[in-house]
Amino acid sequence: MIHRLTGIEACVFDAYGTLFDVHSAVGQCRDRFGLESGPAQTMSDSWRTRQLQYSWLRSLMGKHVDFWQVTGDALDFALDTAFGPGKAPDGLRQALMDSYLALHTYPEVPGVLRKLKDAGMKTAVLSNGSPSMLEKVCTSTGIDAVLDAVLSIEDVGIYKPHPSVYRLAVERLDLSGPAAVSFQSSNAWDAAAASAFGFKVVWCNRFGQARERLPGAPDVEVTSLTDLPALVGV
Ligand code: LAC
Repeated sequence: MIHRLTGIEACVFDAYGTLFDVHSAVGQCRDRFGLESGPAQTMSDSWRTRQLQYSWLRSLMGKHVDFWQVTGDALDFALDTAFGPGKAPDGLRQALMDSYLALHTYPEVPGVLRKLKDAGMKTAVLSNGSPSMLEKVCTSTGIDAVLDAVLSIEDVGIYKPHPSVYRLAVERLDLSGPAAVSFQSSNAWDAAAASAFGFKVVWCNRFGQARERLPGAPDVEVTSLTDLPALVGV
C-alpha cells in the first residue's frame, strides 16, 4: 500500500549516502592498494563517521570550513587509525580524495531522477558538499542533466541539520512552503531534522538503521528510491 505524498512541488535529495555511495571511494581504491575488504570497510565507516561528526562539531564551535576540508580532515583521522599515524600507503590519501569526486550513484538513482524530471517535477540536491565537490560528482555521474538545482550549505555557512539549510531549498526553488518539498535522505538524523523543519520526508533507509530519537519523523520509510515517483504521484 503506497502512502502518497500530496501537494509536492519539488523532490529534494541529500547527496552523500542517498544519491552517491560514499563507500564507493574506498571501493575504487581497494585493489590498487591491496586493501582487504574488512579493514577497508572499517576505514570507510570511520571516514564517514568522522566527516559527519566534524561537520556538527565545527557548526557548534562556530568554526566553519567547507566540506572538502572536513572530508580531508576526517580521512586523515581514519588513515591514522587504520595504519598508524603517518603510515598510510603512499598515494592512498590522494586516490581516496580523487575518488570522492567520482563516487558512484546507487543503481536506481539516474532512472528515478529522469522519471521525475520527465514528469515535470522540480529536482534538486541539498547537501553539505561544497559547490565544487557537488558539481564534480554530479557531472561525473551524469545526473547534472536531470537536476534543476544543486544547492550547497556553503550559501548559509553552517552544516545540516541547521534549519537555515532546509530553508535555502524553499527559497531557491521558489516553492509555496516547506510542505511542498519531498525530501529524501538515507541519513536518519537528516530525515528527522528535515521533518522537524516542515518538509515531507522520505527516509531511504538503505542501511537498515534504527529510527533516531530526535524531533521530527519521516512520513515514509523505503529501502531504495525506486518507489519515489509513485509516492509523489508521477
Ligand atoms: C550531505 C551529507 C549529509 O550530502 O550526506 O549533506
